[in-house]
Amino acid sequence: MANTEAWGSRVGLILAMAGNAVGLGNFLRFPVQAIQNGGGAFIIPYIVCFLLMGLPLLFVEWSSGRFGGSKGHHSTPFIFDSMDKKKFWKYVGVFGIFTNVAVAAYYCYLESWTLSWMWNSISGTFTGQTQAEVATYFGNYVSLEDGAGNFSWMPIFFWLFCLLLNTWILSRGLSGGVEKVAKIGMPLLIIFGAFLAYKAITIQAGSEGATFDGVVGLNFLWSPNFSSIWEPKVWLAAAGQVFFTLSLGMGSIQCYASYIKKKDDIALNAMSAGWMNEFVEIVLGSAILIPIAVGYLGIDQVVEMTKSGGLGLGFMTMPYLFEQWGPVMAVVAGLFWFGLLFFAGITSSLAMGTPVMGFLQDEHGWKRRPAAWAFGGIVFLLGLPTVLFFNQGVFDEYDYWAGTVSLVVFAFLEIISFAWVFGMDKGWREITDGADIKVPLIFKFIIKWVTPIMLGLLFIASLIMPESGDWGASFSAIFSGEGWSFSADSIIGKIMNKGINADIANALTPEDLAKLTEKKFYINISRLGLLLLWSGIAYLVYHAYKKRIKEGRFTS
Ligand code: TRP
Repeated sequence: MANTEAWGSRVGLILAMAGNAVGLGNFLRFPVQAIQNGGGAFIIPYIVCFLLMGLPLLFVEWSSGRFGGSKGHHSTPFIFDSMDKKKFWKYVGVFGIFTNVAVAAYYCYLESWTLSWMWNSISGTFTGQTQAEVATYFGNYVSLEDGAGNFSWMPIFFWLFCLLLNTWILSRGLSGGVEKVAKIGMPLLIIFGAFLAYKAITIQAGSEGATFDGVVGLNFLWSPNFSSIWEPKVWLAAAGQVFFTLSLGMGSIQCYASYIKKKDDIALNAMSAGWMNEFVEIVLGSAILIPIAVGYLGIDQVVEMTKSGGLGLGFMTMPYLFEQWGPVMAVVAGLFWFGLLFFAGITSSLAMGTPVMGFLQDEHGWKRRPAAWAFGGIVFLLGLPTVLFFNQGVFDEYDYWAGTVSLVVFAFLEIISFAWVFGMDKGWREITDGADIKVPLIFKFIIKWVTPIMLGLLFIASLIMPESGDWGASFSAIFSGEGWSFSADSIIGKIMNKGINADIANALTPEDLAKLTEKKFYINISRLGLLLLWSGIAYLVYHAYKKRIKEGRFTS
């Protein structure tokens, strides 16, 4: 049975696409990446990566999506298959289902914290708490403890509720579910965000308990600083953020775009959604968390807090800081902040569900409702370890492989397939067909040369990043016969367990040693699980392909 899903309106499509891109990445990941990588030093590589990789890839993903959709394909394995005769492309497309499922597995948990923190803001959990107490509350929460040493069901309850909500909306379809949520969620998010940004920027040293002006935080981010601009690490972080925030290299844009009619514009739509995401990221994303945190805590402490991660910053400090604004504002600001995060999160997690559903609907003739429940079920199974073993590093491991590495690999293969295999002349026609704007011709050159080269370099650099961070010295070390020492943060270093092994070697107490050994076990099991997931999806794709042949539904 054909998959007859479609978008209801152009505004709905743009808002849904913007909702796909605008996510927790904009409000939680972006500020933390910016702080970790030197504030003003981060912004320049970020903008360059956005222009030379982000925008071109948006054109590529929107146009390949619409192209595949016109042939009746709604997930990357068969979208890619329809673009070239070689059989292996559909296995490249496996990444476009894998990433969505694996990211959804931890993303939905994160999303459920925002619901829980909304509830906490209303019920006054944080009233009168010190900053340390709010932080402890968060620590207990992710340890599934209630603070008195007992098991707490609350995180699991909110997580299941969030999963069910996602499943239910997905089962109502694109125009009846996803699009409606985006039409309500995106405007609310912008209103909440504008209000919080106004409060943040107007914070004044000495009033409401603040020690610095809110502007100090903004300046930290926006004063260009060239000191670390030549550090490959900063570039890697910037590129990674551009991918994550625009949902590039994931397969969810292609899937959304595959429901666009063949003659409809994609060029202007892609730019509208993409720039809307950048507005939310650069303007709202940098004007809330950082100015508020810096206003109360100072830059040094904020930098210190993001050294070991920083995902928790929005949950561990913001409620305490809101308390300084008086009891009423504390509730309002809490609702606005976590409400904004919730809408950002849900419009993205819904996007993660659609490729899986599209695949099941196209290939196995499933109806929308069972397809949605299948997605919910998979996310439940895969997500359970991130909930139960959060402290053992499962969550971070998923984020690393699915939310960081996989995107770059997929984006690289995808741009090669588009610009070099499908061919840039055909590709350009796909991009400009039906376009409501004139796409500057320079993008043809960028897509063919600049983006693939940058992506290739990016991938190699993340693969073998040297331990010292000093590439020049590391290359000379090879020639003097000392070999290459991989950084613990490089992909190879990760595979070799370099980081955790070093922690184990440095463990001070037997308890630490036991904890770290346990962590290493969970990390490696998670990897194995992700590998199995990838292979399982590849098997389903193979199976679908055989089925197509048997039924005489040839793919290209
Ligand atoms: N762009 C989203 C954010 O900034 C994340 C996201 C949306 C995503 N869709 C995805 C991640 C698909 C992986 C797969 O938070």
